[in-house]
Amino acid sequence: MGFGRGKIILLGEHAVVHGYPAIAVGIERGVTAKAKTAERDLLRLTPWDLAIRPDPRGSQPLERAFAAALSLYPNRPGLEVSAAVDLPAGAGLGCSAAIGVAVLDAIDKAMGIKRTRTDLAESALAWEKVFHGNPSGIDNAMSAVGGVALYRRGDPLKPLRSNKPLYLVVGYSGESSSTKEMVASVARQLENEPRRVNEAFEAIEVLVRNAKLAIEAGDHVALGQLLDLNQTILSSLMLSTGKLEEMCQAARSAGALGAKMTGAGGGGCMFALAAKHDEALRLGEVLGEDAFVAEVSA
Ligand code: MEV
Repeated sequence: MGFGRGKIILLGEHAVVHGYPAIAVGIERGVTAKAKTAERDLLRLTPWDLAIRPDPRGSQPLERAFAAALSLYPNRPGLEVSAAVDLPAGAGLGCSAAIGVAVLDAIDKAMGIKRTRTDLAESALAWEKVFHGNPSGIDNAMSAVGGVALYRRGDPLKPLRSNKPLYLVVGYSGESSSTKEMVASVARQLENEPRRVNEAFEAIEVLVRNAKLAIEAGDHVALGQLLDLNQTILSSLMLSTGKLEEMCQAARSAGALGAKMTGAGGGGCMFALAAKHDEALRLGEVLGEDAFVAEVSA
């Protein structure tokens, strides 16, 4: 079975597209996929009941992404890939990257190809580029490798170590958004107001560097404060929504150590940091019926 995990960006989304560091975690939820030889190439996706044929000039991104994935395997037989997606799409949890990683992993397995998860992540960038135009590479890297890591575009993923797990509670705003559009909106702001946006990115970098130390020291109170500060900067870049702000505030009022949106924003998910597992379960009740707890060990 091929597998691509979902991811949560703890700090540094958007700035990471422009070469600044970010910290992310891989989660247990993701996409599983199986490939078998077949007469015609086909990608089946559940629970959406989609059957996709590869087409490099297709109108749907999935048609083009599947074609890009298959083109990585010269001299291959026809392939039917069935993928089961257990992540909301357009919600900041890296759904498209997880599908790409799972599909490539499944094809590797069907064809007896062995390679490292880091190599798999690099190949999955071809898939991500179809969806996002200018992906930083963080989603496919975290989807393939997992753990808790510092990522900077062009550098190898740096795993972070700590003897304390992170208790994260993910809440879904119910609003979906396009990563491509949100990334383009930040690029426009950067072009029009380079000073303001570069200062925001530099401030985010300071938060990321301090968050790395806080994670390594197991200081989750400090980490929570850094998450809140990152959220303020993301709001100033017009990436948050009223619903996301409301959910972050509800989580903080209910005792979260910190809360912020995650991923592209403009909707999608937020997450809260809890001090303990039972606190995380309690915060999950505050964040609605789609909320779930992700316990991640660094
Ligand atoms: C999307 O999960 C994260 C962004 O920073 C885009 C990217 O890094 O490619 C918004």
